[in-house]
Amino acid sequence: MRYDPPLRRHLTGGSVSALQRCYNVEDFRRRARRKLPAPLFHYIDGGADDERTLRANTSAFDQYPLVPRILRDVTHTDLRTRVLGCDVALPLLLAPTGMSRFFHYQGELAVARAAATFGTLYSLSTVSTTTIEDVARATSGPKLFQLYVLRDPGINDELIDRCKAAGFNALCLTVDTVVQGNRERDLRTGMTVPPALTAQSFASFCARPQWCYRFLTSPRLQMANVAHRIAEGSTQVSSLASYINGQFDRALNWAAAERIRARWQGPFAIKGVLCAEDARRAADIGATAVIVSNHGGRQLDGVPAPIEVIAEIADAVGGRLEIILDGGVRRGTHVLRALARGATACMMGRPYLYGLAAGGQAGVERVLELLRAEIERGMILSGRPRIADIDASLIRGGGAG
Ligand code: GLV
Repeated sequence: MRYDPPLRRHLTGGSVSALQRCYNVEDFRRRARRKLPAPLFHYIDGGADDERTLRANTSAFDQYPLVPRILRDVTHTDLRTRVLGCDVALPLLLAPTGMSRFFHYQGELAVARAAATFGTLYSLSTVSTTTIEDVARATSGPKLFQLYVLRDPGINDELIDRCKAAGFNALCLTVDTVVQGNRERDLRTGMTVPPALTAQSFASFCARPQWCYRFLTSPRLQMANVAHRIAEGSTQVSSLASYINGQFDRALNWAAAERIRARWQGPFAIKGVLCAEDARRAADIGATAVIVSNHGGRQLDGVPAPIEVIAEIADAVGGRLEIILDGGVRRGTHVLRALARGATACMMGRPYLYGLAAGGQAGVERVLELLRAEIERGMILSGRPRIADIDASLIRGGGAG
């Protein structure tokens, strides 16, 4: 862990010793809650409607108990794998999440640099607060761009072409957010873009002076990739839901997805797949991967957890597509279960955002360090020291059901 000068530590809240005293993702979640004004913490932490799917994404992993094999030589471990045309050092990628500079002034650059340090893939969101070009300049690590299809027809092609020019390795099209899910926590806390003092949020901003200082002294936060095309929403205070509902293209369909893949030409994933039939169609239009995801329980509440559907999707398309599980991963043993059920790799969103809010780049790195250690320890203790050793036999009953 690199040395943080005391003044910087004080301002970022990323005190090394405090981060070292976080031992798991839940510790980081608690620390993020102490650091962030309530609208921002709950924007990360919350889900749609009754948050049933949000909770199930993690709790469903418990349905698949691990079965260790004993007396195998586990001296040498190997966590490396290959996904979306990239060699990665561990089977855990960083999912796209919007507006990272709201959670820490270092924002997307901190997350991208932490990912590169750990040799894993960083995903930049369409609604990021840092541009495609700035992220590309900041790190040579593997990078994916996540595309939301916007109504302005020119912007979608422009974003794809900019990613090509900037050397991004892969593109993912998110298909589960044509309107925003019903996030009642955001309504109650007064979450707006950019954050604004409202009757609901006033006290929580006053209680987080460090965050307010950074917010007021940092360059203006905006949706950096699209601001030049979409004045409305990038400059005015609005609810996030009204922005998404106003700008995202509801006419998005398979033909449009195929056109996007054809324009991009490189490794291409569809994010938001939850059934075998849609995975087959993704394979038919030439996708490289499906990201099995319910958007972290933030969109349609009541859908299955990714870990529950991954095996049927792997059975249907396993030979044709890579399968990335996104949703609910909080432990290394969750990643092992996902791989055993047929995933090529996993993605996580909230865990690294808690790390970012807790301590900037150092916080994201500590989250990655903990999860990498958990994955490796789980591989040793289960008698599967290499990724290739992980198969259905790791789950009791072969993970059927
Ligand atoms: C946007 O993608 C969100 O989930 O808030």
